[in-house]
Amino acid sequence: MARHLITSALPYINGIKHLGNMVGSMLPADVYSRYLRQRGHDVLYICATDEHGTPAELAAKEEGLPVDEFCARAHDQQKAIYDGFNLAFDYFGRSSSPQNHEITQEIARELKANGFIEERAIRQVYSITDGRFLPDRYIIGTCPHCGYDKARGDQCENCTRVLDPTDLIDPRSAISGSSDLEIRETKHLFLLQSALAGEVESWVDERADNWPVLASSIARKWLTEGLHDRAITRDLDWGVPVPGDTWPDLAAEGKVFYVWFDAPIEYIGSTKEWADQDPTGNRDWRSWWWESEADVHYTQFMGKDNVPFHSVMFPATLLGTRAPWKKVDVIKAFNWLNYYGGKFSTSQRRGVFTHDALDILPADYWRYFMMANAPESDDSSFTWEHFTATVNKDLADTLGNFVNRVLSFSRKRFGDAVPEGAEPGEAEAKLGAEIARLLAEYEEHMEAIQFRKAAASLRALWSAGNSYLEEKAPWLEIKTNKDGAALTLRTAMNLIHLYAVVSEPFIPTTAKAMRESFALKTDTATWVTPDEARALSSVPAGTPFTVPPVLFAKLTDDDLETYKERFGGAPA
Ligand code: MF3
Ligand code: ZN
Repeated sequence: MARHLITSALPYINGIKHLGNMVGSMLPADVYSRYLRQRGHDVLYICATDEHGTPAELAAKEEGLPVDEFCARAHDQQKAIYDGFNLAFDYFGRSSSPQNHEITQEIARELKANGFIEERAIRQVYSITDGRFLPDRYIIGTCPHCGYDKARGDQCENCTRVLDPTDLIDPRSAISGSSDLEIRETKHLFLLQSALAGEVESWVDERADNWPVLASSIARKWLTEGLHDRAITRDLDWGVPVPGDTWPDLAAEGKVFYVWFDAPIEYIGSTKEWADQDPTGNRDWRSWWWESEADVHYTQFMGKDNVPFHSVMFPATLLGTRAPWKKVDVIKAFNWLNYYGGKFSTSQRRGVFTHDALDILPADYWRYFMMANAPESDDSSFTWEHFTATVNKDLADTLGNFVNRVLSFSRKRFGDAVPEGAEPGEAEAKLGAEIARLLAEYEEHMEAIQFRKAAASLRALWSAGNSYLEEKAPWLEIKTNKDGAALTLRTAMNLIHLYAVVSEPFIPTTAKAMRESFALKTDTATWVTPDEARALSSVPAGTPFTVPPVLFAKLTDDDLETYKERFGGAPA
């Protein structure tokens, strides 16, 4: 048994996430956590909302709410959706928590004490009307390239060119609209990443070979581009304040840390929230984060755009503290999930959003589809055609129908307990060997964090049951050999129970319903090894069972049309 720390990239507080966000971070982390828990490991799965930065401020402004109120509300909304998806976080915190404030400031102080933070003066746009410096995104004006008149200081939304605020024609404040702007000199904190470059490089070299290739290749590419010093403070109201005991001038000016500085630290902050929240006081958050104390294996999940921050910048921050903060062991990254080949887009509301998904169908349909088609080696595309076909074939036919067919037939012919029947024969031995082989394969893919392959092995396990049933055909067998038919059904019921255990990471609600069909006393979610599975005997004859309601509804052509109409199909 090992201790596994698992985190998924923190979702931004603004806006409901779409399926593309979910499949690249929280869902795979949940599937992996569930798997490791079942195998008896001590798992801590931590996530949180990423609440600071200009997008949060702007979204709050749009809704006419104070930013703290906006974030509190948006956090609860997101949490409710993730509960709906059955994401079993040990804790889902908030990067605006006092715990994160405290740890972020502590880390910044350590970095300064070690000479890795420096104050530097830079020239920045100041709005006289608003009485504040404006972050790049808060300055709007006309794009010098395409003439779009609402281009932002960091980028033109219309032609997507990256801009500098000083490029804008007729610049004005996004807050007040005032064009009474001037350039002023102001001080910011810089993290001297260049001084840590060598160390970070060896750190990456030591472990990236063990990462799935997408993450390691991005990390290496980033390193060859060099590690530059970067500003880690901003002129915003909402964020972790620069501590006044260490930087009195900057604190007096109201500077806060840049969101990408405090967000990854919230992995630690959220762990402390988890500990502080426990009334017994028995949760030791440091034992998960203090390298010397315990042997923790730490895996992070994220979309590919997040890899540079997690593989290079956050490790640089932690290394620079000279404190034994636990650093990531394995980074699992994902490509993009597209919608009909185009982008999911939060701003254009294109694609399927998490709350709408749950509105249509239960979580397990989505969980299975997304993981079976996870964008691991390449971008992948969501289409309603593919989704409905997968649900019908894999979930409704191969798994759901198998379960219902076996249980209802046995109940009809042998009553409501697992029948005894003949001793297992050649067909059962062959099936057992095949099941053991596929289960070992499934475990191997899960250990390697290869979800598509794992889902394929799971599907193959389900199919093996169908082949066995077709081969033995108990509905014919019963006419000539009642004991033989009973054996077939008992074996099939043992398969159902095995599926109920090993499908849990992907489809936890259905797996539970399947397990609960059998009146067994033991904790039936405990993992079964390939060798145990081979015997197909965990549910003994005489065990009472019930027939669950249909596990997965078949989706019709009408359903498909309704979805396409509601969400739009191919991009215009
Ligand atoms: N909110 C960021 C995103 O969605 C991810 C932050 S991950 C963290 O891209 F480590 F910084 F928290
Ligand atoms: Zn433009």
